[in-house]
Amino acid sequence: MITLSNRHSFQFMVASGALSFDGRGWPWEWPLRWCGLLDPSLFTIVTKTLTRLPRPGNLRWSHPWSVVKKIDGEGAINSIGLTNKGIDWWCQKVAPSIPANYKIIASIEAKDRKELVEMIRLLEGKKILGLELNLSCPNSPSGRGSDTSHILELCREAKKHSPYPLIAKLSFTHDYVRIAKELEGVVEAIAINSIPWKAIFGEKQSPLARYGGGGVSGKVVQPFTWKMVDELSKSTKIPVIGPSVWEYDDIQILFDKGAQAIGFGSIFLSYPWRPTLYVKRWLKNKP
Ligand SMILES: Cc1cc2nc3c(=O)[nH]c(=O)nc-3n(C[C@H](O)[C@H](O)[C@H](O)COP(=O)(O)O)c2cc1C
Repeated sequence: MITLSNRHSFQFMVASGALSFDGRGWPWEWPLRWCGLLDPSLFTIVTKTLTRLPRPGNLRWSHPWSVVKKIDGEGAINSIGLTNKGIDWWCQKVAPSIPANYKIIASIEAKDRKELVEMIRLLEGKKILGLELNLSCPNSPSGRGSDTSHILELCREAKKHSPYPLIAKLSFTHDYVRIAKELEGVVEAIAINSIPWKAIFGEKQSPLARYGGGGVSGKVVQPFTWKMVDELSKSTKIPVIGPSVWEYDDIQILFDKGAQAIGFGSIFLSYPWRPTLYVKRWLKNKP
């Protein structure tokens, strides 16, 4: 269980991108929500990442699956590239319509300190429980993605200005142990992003090669993301949110590795009903 400084506690989270911008999920998931097989109210939900200005990214709604590929039911590769209509749109059109019983954390990506502070100001007063800083999108053109000093600078600036607890979202390609140690007292939890194709498969051709390779997630990246959980839990006091759950037993494995909460990500693409099923089973067996 992770308890943030505003006293919001959570054990089960939905990772950014899994349930769209408002927690209701993507249109193909709505029927599951209507019949209760997907219950967003069980989770603390991170929105899909917002940027200061609208960003077209690579996603085209007419053919979304050209930038998201499933890997034999065991994970996903995506190169969406933070397609979103921008934070003003979210504040004006999306935030007011979010159901009152949804627990929402906003995910933001800012290219520099100025943009970050602007975005934090725009989110002030919104019904959110925290801010997740996406410091690690494998498909973002914002550059400096793996630059430790840039990441630390953004997190410290966010801490100065944010009325909300902060979550830092890091990547396997970061100097993540060093970053986490430096962020003690600055951020309140660490989340883990998908892994750039090249970091796992090297020069092997990605099905999304024309979009830069994409980010890989799900069961196939457990050796990488769980290594991060292991190392981070041992080396920092900041609670870590464990990713890449695929089977029910993965939850216990992640808690044993030191994760203090679970974040369900690309499992929603292959088995959108599983997280709800797993959480209900967990709460029944291990309340
Ligand atoms: C289709 C898709 C879209 C995603 N969009 C975002 C995003 O907008 N922001 C972000 O920080 N992470 C995004 N992610 C990464 C997930 O939040 C998560 O960190 C990653 O998939 C690793 O967790 P997993 O192995 O449990 O899937 C996305 C992942 C997928 C598969």
